[in-house]
Amino acid sequence: MVKVSVLGASGQIGQPLSLLLKSSPLVTELRLYDVVHSVGVATDLDHIDTPAKVSGYLPNDNGLEKALSGAELVMIPAGVARKPGMTRDDLFTTNANVIADLLSEVAQLCPEAFICIITNPVNSTVPIAVEVLKKHGVFNPRRVFGVTTLDVVRASTFTAHALGELDPQKFKIPVVGGHSGATIIPLISQSQPPVQLTKEQLDAVTYRVQFGGDEIVKSKAGAGSATTCMAYAGFRFAQAIMKAYRGETGIVEPTYVFLPGVPGGEEISKSLGVSFFAVPVEFGTDGATKAQPVGPLSDYEQDLLKKAIQELRGNIVKGESHVKGGK
Ligand code: NAI
Repeated sequence: MVKVSVLGASGQIGQPLSLLLKSSPLVTELRLYDVVHSVGVATDLDHIDTPAKVSGYLPNDNGLEKALSGAELVMIPAGVARKPGMTRDDLFTTNANVIADLLSEVAQLCPEAFICIITNPVNSTVPIAVEVLKKHGVFNPRRVFGVTTLDVVRASTFTAHALGELDPQKFKIPVVGGHSGATIIPLISQSQPPVQLTKEQLDAVTYRVQFGGDEIVKSKAGAGSATTCMAYAGFRFAQAIMKAYRGETGIVEPTYVFLPGVPGGEEISKSLGVSFFAVPVEFGTDGATKAQPVGPLSDYEQDLLKKAIQELRGNIVKGESHVKGGK
């Protein structure tokens, strides 16, 4: 059974994510932290008849310390989200500071926890988190993850839609790379079961997986970005970690990790020429137990990979420099 903290719990992702965590029998304790409204959100959720005990904390009265002490899994959707016309990178300045500050507390209060970063730009916020944990001497690369599950969910959904199939979950499609636009690489050639898409369908599905976030930002017209589908994806990822932590085997989810620190990841990192990258990761009781290689790519996917790597390198350096340069 797992003690979970959600940082940014009152937000548009934080609330539905907390609802899903509250409904999970795997969660014993749910601590909700935000700079606003978190006590009310917690009281509301605590009326649900599931075992998880819910408590809410604000910054006053050592709220963050209470939310984090002894936490085993920390989910972080804290920060600001996109508005129409913004890229994820436009969020950098605000969210970089939010992540650096929160991670400094995580490093001191629950350094052993599994840390899942949802806050964008994930390509840079995860390197920031890692640098902060390193500064505190508590970085465990098997336990720090950028949540890219929404890209995996989208790949299944949009492939099913393109083929007129009813059940998207039938298609297992790895998505590797980063989590923004051209850095997202859906590997449709590796779909299980295999699928045959025309070039037009392949272009359309790939584009929608890479830029699906923009569809939502545009249609919400200023009211936010992906939230409910992200809560679903974030919960799916949290569940994978919790199940593996409890001893279930055979659990694999793509996630954005510091590859050289994950078993099997060093070679992948060298061959790609980047340190952070999302690959399918096997989970065990201690977190990431193996990074799986990206596998054979089609010519189409090779092209996507080349474009992704270039952009991703810049995003990683930007995140690392934010901490190394002392903000
Ligand atoms: P939101 O604005 O609705 O919620 C963010 C919450 O964070 C707010 O309640 C705010 O009060 C809180 N917050 C801000 N600073 C904080 C701090 N220092 N400590 C604790 N809480 C703090 O935004 P939303 O829609 O929930 O998105 C959250 C983040 O998730 C954004 O950065 C967004 O870009 C990202 N996102 C990530 C996705 C992914 O696939 N990884 C998908 C969609 C969004």
